[in-house]
Parts: sequence; C-alpha cells; structure tokens
Amino acid sequence: MSHLKTIEWVNDAVQIIDQTRLPLELVYERIEKIEAMHDAIKTLKVRGAPAIGIAAAFGVYLGVRDTSGVKNGKEFSAIVCQKADYLAGSRPTAVNLFWALERVKTKAAALAAELLPVIEIKKKLLAEAQDILEEDRHMCRRIGEHGLKLLEGKKAILTHCNAGGLATAEYGTALAPVYVAAEHHRFIHVYADETRPLLQGARITAFELQESGIPVTLICDSMAATVMARGLVDAVFVGADRIAGNGDTANKIGTYGVAVLAKAHNIPFYVAAPASTFDMSLASGKEIPIEERDGREITCSFGKQTAPAGIKVFNPAFDVTPSHLITSFITDRGVIDPPFTQNLCKAFKK
Ligand code: MRU
Repeated sequence: MSHLKTIEWVNDAVQIIDQTRLPLELVYERIEKIEAMHDAIKTLKVRGAPAIGIAAAFGVYLGVRDTSGVKNGKEFSAIVCQKADYLAGSRPTAVNLFWALERVKTKAAALAAELLPVIEIKKKLLAEAQDILEEDRHMCRRIGEHGLKLLEGKKAILTHCNAGGLATAEYGTALAPVYVAAEHHRFIHVYADETRPLLQGARITAFELQESGIPVTLICDSMAATVMARGLVDAVFVGADRIAGNGDTANKIGTYGVAVLAKAHNIPFYVAAPASTFDMSLASGKEIPIEERDGREITCSFGKQTAPAGIKVFNPAFDVTPSHLITSFITDRGVIDPPFTQNLCKAFKK
C-alpha cells in the first residue's frame, strides 16, 4: 500500500499533501479554515472522489468550530447546513462530496434534536469526519481484498487517472487490489495513462506506484490502444466519481475511450469504488453533472502555452462510461456482476 498520508487530522488542523506539486515536491499543507478547504478541493490540491468527501467533512468542522454566541443546537445545525452548502459548490461530479456533507448535516440535526449542547455537537462533528476517514480506509482495503481474485492469472493491468492511495484515505480503489497483491508478494505491472490535461496518471499514479515499489510504465493516453493490441495488459482497472443506479459510471475524462478500447480488444474493464460513490438516486449516467474546467488547463497547462491565444476550448473533466462496457464493479461489499440495475439495487438501495 502507499505509505503517503493523503489527508489526516494533525494538531487541530487538516493536513493534506498538495497534489498540484507532485511529483517534483512532496509538500504537506495545513488547512485551518473552511475557505482554504474549498480552495484546496476546487484547485485539486486534494482530489479523487473519496478524498474529496473526507476533506469536505473536515471542512464543515473547520467552518463551525469557532462559532460563538449560538443559542442552541437547532441554530447551530442551520449553520452546519450553510457551511455544507458552501463546500458543495466546490466541485460537482464526485458524489462522495455530497454524501459526506449529507452525513455531517444529518449528524448535526440528530444531535440538535437530542438537545446536546453546541460544544458537544462540535466535538461529535470532528469525530464524524474522523470516522468517515477511518471507514474509507477499511472500505478501500476490502475493495483490495475483493479485487484480488480478479487479478488471478493476470500479469499487467492498465489504469487511467489516479485511483490510488492519494485519491483516498489509504489503499485507493482501482489500485487497492494491486497493493493487496503486493502484500502477498505478487507484483502486478501497471500501465498508467498519463491522463491529459492535468496528468494525474503521470504526476500521481506513477509517483505513488514507484514510491511503493510496484512496477509501473507510463504511457500517453493515445498509446492505450497499442498497449492493448500488443497484448501487454490483461485487464483495465479504474476508479469512479459517481455511479448511477444502472451502472453508468462517471470517471476522469478519457475513461470512456479506454472502456471502448477494452471492449474492442476483449479485455475485462473493472470499476472499483466504495459504497459512497454509488448514487442510487440517479437512474442513468445522463443525470450525472459533469464538471467543466478552465480552458487554460488545455491551452496553457503547467505554465506553458501550447495552443494559439484565444482558441475555443472544450474541457469536461469527466465522462460517463455506459454500463454495457463494464465487466464488473469491485466494491467494499464484494464484486458486482451484471445485470447491474438489479444487482446494484440489491447491494446499495437503502
Ligand atoms: O479530477 P480528479 O483528479 O479529482 O479526478 C479523479 C478521478 O477521476 C478518479 O479516478 C476518481 O475520483 C476515483 S478516485 C478513487
């Protein structure tokens, strides 16, 4: 597993790795205010669906911990809702963000209804954020254990973006089976798509796998077809930002293309995600909001202009892979095979 601490609560503040500075610098940043957390999520200092959820839960606590003069729990709970709504505006696609905010709001309301003093509710909100972090660690470990059997007989996989430890509290999702296999002294070779435009594959996946001693080969996104055609990979493992009730899956832009390629080459395409990434309120992927980011991420990424000034740009940060291209989901509750509408409902409908 990756030994890097993506996000932690240390000495009364949230400590994150500033992922915008990887791989050249490993810089830890202390976040003490909700505004700084909003900025960290929006600018991708902390990124990856599960990590965003954890960050948001701590962010709400940072936003309410210094409130004073609040008369009662009910009034305090309304402030919690305001702070959660503010953080909800940081990024739209990863449902883990909204899942975590909902959980914190529900907790505050329940404690207010029990007439707990505000000071006690504050303590319990911090504990809730810490629980979300701990639970994520366990969920990802279980994804790794369930995914391990899908790696049987396989030597190499391809992944897109970063769905490793740096996208979660610890093990990652798509990379969790690879880390668990390594614990059993089986080293799966990972081909990492560089993942234009923000290079999460090159900057983050390649970095964390190399740090962990897992064999990794970096490729440009446009090389995935060749890697598959040459028989260099046995399967694709990716993460997810939001999975609709029918299995349609939003993940980093380019994932859909990789799924089409995997189908064309008869290679299994697995999506790994914890329960917090399944949005059973959505019937299909058409309803998933897709973030569009600043065009300068394409024309001027990492400070160098690579396109004519004033050019029109389309920069969706995510795409939706239709469920018929997905072989199975690897979740903390086990591997889920088609038919997805039926089987996801059984596993995740409240
Ligand atoms: O824009 P990012 O870097 O937050 O996008 C991250 C991804 O698309 C990941 O694949 C996804 O969140 C799964 S992380 C376990």
